[in-house]
Amino acid sequence: MTETEPHMSGDVSPGSSTRAVLSARDVVVDYPGHPALRAVDGVSFDVHPGEVIGLVGESGCGKSTMARVLTGLLKPNAGEILYNDQPLKPLGIGGRAADSTGIQMVFQDPGSSLNPRRRVGPQIQDGLDAARRRLGRTLKEGHPTTPGQWLERIGMTPSDAERFPRSFSGGQRQRIATARALAAAPDVLIADEPISSLDASTQALVAYVMSSLTVAEGAGMLFISHDLAVVRLIADRLLVMYKGRIVERGPAEEIWADPHHPYTKALLGAIPLPDGAGKLPAVTPPGTQYPLEEVVR
Ligand SMILES: Nc1ncnc2c1ncn2[C@@H]1O[C@H](COP(=O)(O)OP(=O)(O)O)[C@@H](O)[C@H]1O
Ligand SMILES: [Mg+2]
Repeated sequence: MTETEPHMSGDVSPGSSTRAVLSARDVVVDYPGHPALRAVDGVSFDVHPGEVIGLVGESGCGKSTMARVLTGLLKPNAGEILYNDQPLKPLGIGGRAADSTGIQMVFQDPGSSLNPRRRVGPQIQDGLDAARRRLGRTLKEGHPTTPGQWLERIGMTPSDAERFPRSFSGGQRQRIATARALAAAPDVLIADEPISSLDASTQALVAYVMSSLTVAEGAGMLFISHDLAVVRLIADRLLVMYKGRIVERGPAEEIWADPHHPYTKALLGAIPLPDGAGKLPAVTPPGTQYPLEEVVR
């Protein structure tokens, strides 16, 4: 694969008038074994400020592996991640602290994003402190400057700062995790299945709050989910992943209305319309093999 291949043309979007904050370039990840498992197989895409990208595909296709590479938690076997045009330095012992960077994550399990033993106010304050360390006093105009203001921003009250995570619902905890992440004034927020553990009735609302606040802060967002019906509501662009590859990409509405790749068609066909409660199939039907080449829209 080369940079000039037409698969990059799917990155043409309103957001591409701005510089990408995060770019994956021909990323390959192999997990050791006999034989080694290629979890990500030559993935390239850009995330621009203020845009929401949905990364969708069934369980095991490589989404979380891609998220770990994008945050520097995992080093790719080939290819690279550029953060503000610079190669991303790996996290780890002696490396940069996650909070010192402008790449923030929200995980599927709110327990992974929030410390269950600390009140939520100080946890949001950690995000604000991280932003101050990184950006000095130059916090964006309108950026909430206290945990109470952040709690109001997510539809809660300042007194909630005194409560522990366990006293909130799953949806509230994911909103708090979002506030904590955005308080750090990131350039990009990566959310890996952030609504999958929630009741179907709150999924769309939480996804909407997360994405609209991220965009309001001017950050880009990669929203990872196997639930195409919700992603479609919030994403500007979609990346459809299958067996470690992007097989289709483009504006979310275009793909929703007219999927080109057989795998994308199968995903959409699996969603019971129109209630939006559909889930992608856990596995493609046995024996099914879709083309691995990306269709160029
Ligand atoms: N730490 C690991 N070691 C070995 N194999 C892994 C590891 N993590 C994930 N995998 C495998 O890599 C593939 C992609 O996994 P993952 O990125 O978690 O997919 P997704 O998030 O789309 O469900 C799967 O086949 C999975 O079993
Ligand atoms: Mg995953």
